[in-house]
Amino acid sequence: VLLPVILCGGAGTRLWPVSREQHPKPFMQLADGQSLLQKTFARAAALPGVEQVLTVTNRELLFKTKDEYARVNPNGLPTAYILEPYGRNTAPALAAAALWAEQHVGADATLLVLAADHLITRPEAFAQATAEARVLAEAGNMVTFGIRPTAPETGYGYIEADGHRVLRFVEKPPLELAAEYLASGRYLWNSGMFCLRVDTVLRELAQHAPSVLESLHDCLGASPQIEGAGQMQVELQAETFRYAPDISIDYALMENSRNVAVVPCDIGWSDIGSWTALSELQTADDQGNRVHGEALMHDVHDCYVQSPQRVVGLVGVRDLIVVDTPDAVLVADRRHAQDVRQITAQLKANG
Ligand code: GDD
Ligand code: MG
Repeated sequence: VLLPVILCGGAGTRLWPVSREQHPKPFMQLADGQSLLQKTFARAAALPGVEQVLTVTNRELLFKTKDEYARVNPNGLPTAYILEPYGRNTAPALAAAALWAEQHVGADATLLVLAADHLITRPEAFAQATAEARVLAEAGNMVTFGIRPTAPETGYGYIEADGHRVLRFVEKPPLELAAEYLASGRYLWNSGMFCLRVDTVLRELAQHAPSVLESLHDCLGASPQIEGAGQMQVELQAETFRYAPDISIDYALMENSRNVAVVPCDIGWSDIGSWTALSELQTADDQGNRVHGEALMHDVHDCYVQSPQRVVGLVGVRDLIVVDTPDAVLVADRRHAQDVRQITAQLKANG
């Protein structure tokens, strides 16, 4: 059995003002009207051997999530939810998923862990890579999906591989190292998706992150489960969940585990980490401009404008990102797109 596990948590702070705490990045709609989360669900549901989809997310996002799924789930594939009182990063989320799956699906089930906010433009290639990953996972490997790197990005994990075998996994290296890895031609980016058997995850957690496993074991034991028609729900109790260490799968497991494998793949992957990355999904006009919504322009070059509700006018500017929403507007130099997270940080600091 293949059980897709969709991790939906991060707020996507570099995509303010569209991505917010109550409306995080996975819920962002692309130009075709579908959200990243809907695309992720549909992609997972279409894989062979999938009988249900498990989602780990914040409890505040449950109804929104169900709404999203309903519109891309015509056959009523069963869904299950593990609800967090607050984010504790991806390792606790994975531990909860593995413990839940052990109980409800079986220790020999294979988990396909998916980020809720990535775009994959070649679903057939993704299905093919998943089939390959499954074979490696069933043999007891912790399987990652490797993407050919194109820049010394510091927000990704780097994988050095010999065939399918991973020699080294380095999460978010500093710029000099990232540049070295890129230049060597021997590294792949970690896509942030994983394929692993339930018993493998539990064994690796016990070895490399025992406090994550123990805290989630206790937490699940104390958390009420609700079962309904085609739906199952566990609400993690805040009193016990707070003992879970705040750590990611990458730091807790992938950097330490000795049986990590990689499936190199060309699946049209993008984690849409910034407005620049998002804008590049659209083709530019002759002036290098991209518009989602309505904009009037005169002598404007290499700008991205998103304004689905109002008309924006631009005159004599270049390299700008302009994003209009009902209650907030972003104007940024596109070469500083990564720094949009500073705005979110300021908002948080100001309460
Ligand atoms: N349920 C839940 N709870 N989900 C979470 C939480 C949490 O506390 N924190 C993050 N997530 C979800 C995010 O919504 C996203 O879908 C996924 O888990 C990955 O988390 P990110 O916070 O986006 O990770 P990252 O981008 O810093 O790094 C990961 O992804 C990169 C590729 O995009 C790593 O796996 C890197 O190695 C990888 O290169
Ligand atoms: Mg991410």
